[in-house]
Amino acid sequence: MTTRTLPDLFTWLEHARLAGDVHYDERQRSWLVLGHPEVTSVLGDPHRFSSDLGDLLPRQEDLELFRRGNFVQMDPPRHDSLRRLVSRAFTPRVVAGLAPRITAVTEELLDEVADARRFDLVDDLAYPLPVIVIAELLGIPAEDRPVFRRWADALFERPEIGPDDPLTRMMDDQRVRAVAPVLREMNEYLLRHVRARRAAPGDDLTSGLVHAEADGEQLDDEEIIGFVGLLLLAGHITTTATLGNTVATLDQHPDAAAALRADPALLPDAIEEVLRLRTPFPRLARRASTDTVVGGVTVPEGDVVVAWLAAANRDARVFADPARFDIRRTPNPHLTFGHGIHFCIGAPLARLEARIAMELLLRRYRTIAVDTESAVFRNPWVMLAPTKLPVEVTPA
Ligand code: HEM
Repeated sequence: MTTRTLPDLFTWLEHARLAGDVHYDERQRSWLVLGHPEVTSVLGDPHRFSSDLGDLLPRQEDLELFRRGNFVQMDPPRHDSLRRLVSRAFTPRVVAGLAPRITAVTEELLDEVADARRFDLVDDLAYPLPVIVIAELLGIPAEDRPVFRRWADALFERPEIGPDDPLTRMMDDQRVRAVAPVLREMNEYLLRHVRARRAAPGDDLTSGLVHAEADGEQLDDEEIIGFVGLLLLAGHITTTATLGNTVATLDQHPDAAAALRADPALLPDAIEEVLRLRTPFPRLARRASTDTVVGGVTVPEGDVVVAWLAAANRDARVFADPARFDIRRTPNPHLTFGHGIHFCIGAPLARLEARIAMELLLRRYRTIAVDTESAVFRNPWVMLAPTKLPVEVTPA
């Protein structure tokens, strides 16, 4: 559990909603956007709501270097040029071709704990599976994953962040100073990787980026760092979260678990419902580029706007009985992967990994019981994800 007692995120969000689907929060010094149509409208208009919050971040060389090719924090046209360089690698059709490899990796990981009646679902499956898959796509040694885990923990482990904090506190002066050594290690590691691929290209995405052109120019090595770093981190932390969240949710809903064992074809919809209720990234930040109206409220130019995906996903105007876990919920237009030009490029991959892993887990084990006393979750204000999920299993 988190080290400081914070209000329950969802109770707080429901309370906040009473002040309006769009309203200013003095403590967070930002506009909170909580409704589904309002979040959709913010994310859908990059011209009014910019993803570049660089002006609000401290000037620090390691951070700036990492941000150079990090296209999730860019606006058009540069965002679109960079995203296009990799979008073809992540279409549902191309990703479907990865199914045999994802299955083989899952089988190998489960074979390693085959004799155990108790193992850690995060350490033994939910963490290594997506890291191995994305590292292989990028041509990065998957054995270095303990290092990647240390980076992700350093960046996302923020037990103190809560309703009293502006989102920009995630990366204020003090924080950047504290994580600078990690950012530097990450940049240096990725730079070595990019240079090695430039010298000896392989059949991987990094080698493709080394030769790719955006707006008629080749990317330089330092731009590729942020690009590859974004794919490496975004490509696993949230999928790890989703696998852990799925097992934890099914543990609380044995009827749903039984229905999925009986009919695994229900798994894709069940995973969508976990994604809706346990949104790994609960909120996204934007900045108003101009005075603009959203949900009938005027937001002044330059203000920070926080799109609460976790609240939009429980908007009763869109989801009947929104807090209920319903594995047959259709349609399920959750916003967990975002919306608009930044819509998650890895959604097809994350969905495929989650489906294959859950299918194999349910096939191998007749029961999977979470040891809730020993489970550890990240601070949900930062990310909804277990970091330790010990399970006791009975083979099928
Ligand atoms: C963007 C969530 C898995 C790569 C996003 C965004 C969200 C998100 C909410 C939008 C950010 C914004 O608008 O500011 C998730 C969740 C995942 C997941 C919940 C798993 C369940 C993945 C995977 C990859 C990936 C597996 C690996 C390829 C990216 C990239 C972007 C992105 C590169 C930036 C896209 C852009 O700016 O155009 N993701 N993601 N994500 N995601 Fe994911």
